[in-house]
Amino acid sequence: MAGLDKRTPLPLTEMMATHQKQEMRDHLQVVQEIAIALGKDDFDAITAAAARIAWSDKQAMMCKHMGAGAPGFTAMGEHFHRTADGIVTAAKNRDRAGVATALGTTLETCVKCHATYRQDIVDEQTFAKHGGSMGHSMMHSE
Ligand code: HEC
Repeated sequence: MAGLDKRTPLPLTEMMATHQKQEMRDHLQVVQEIAIALGKDDFDAITAAAARIAWSDKQAMMCKHMGAGAPGFTAMGEHFHRTADGIVTAAKNRDRAGVATALGTTLETCVKCHATYRQDIVDEQTFAKHGGSMGHSMMHSE
């Protein structure tokens, strides 16, 4: 795979890679929920769904942890969460076109990141060599 796939490798331990994919499937479910809610003008449902991908210190720490071995990944992930804040803001204003526009901006960041990076499963030592810290230190101070 790696030979044909020219995207930048994102080194992750198997556990982190599994966790990232779980997060990703939830990201996809979030955009699904937003699209369906938008068709029903259900702005509360949009706000609730978008909050799962909106900016938080915890999300930012996760991006930092996941991106330790791939330059640019963390910044792209953080930018993604910032764009999701735009969905929340538009939904709170009950701004239908604003939600659609912000959703489009968020989807652009999903597409861009997928076009740039691919998971690269490595062992813990290799991950640590890339500057990544192991364990749950990411959830505390760093
Ligand atoms: C900062 C980078 C980044 C952003 C932003 C991002 N992803 Fe991902 N996503 C990844 C990476 C890396 C993979 C693993 C791709 C690979 O190895 O081929 C992935 C994989 C996935 C997968 C596959 C999960 C699986 O079970 O195999 C889905 C679905 C997905 N992303 C959805 C989304 C959606 C929807 C968004 C936006 C709302 C999003 N992602 C935003 C980096 C990102």
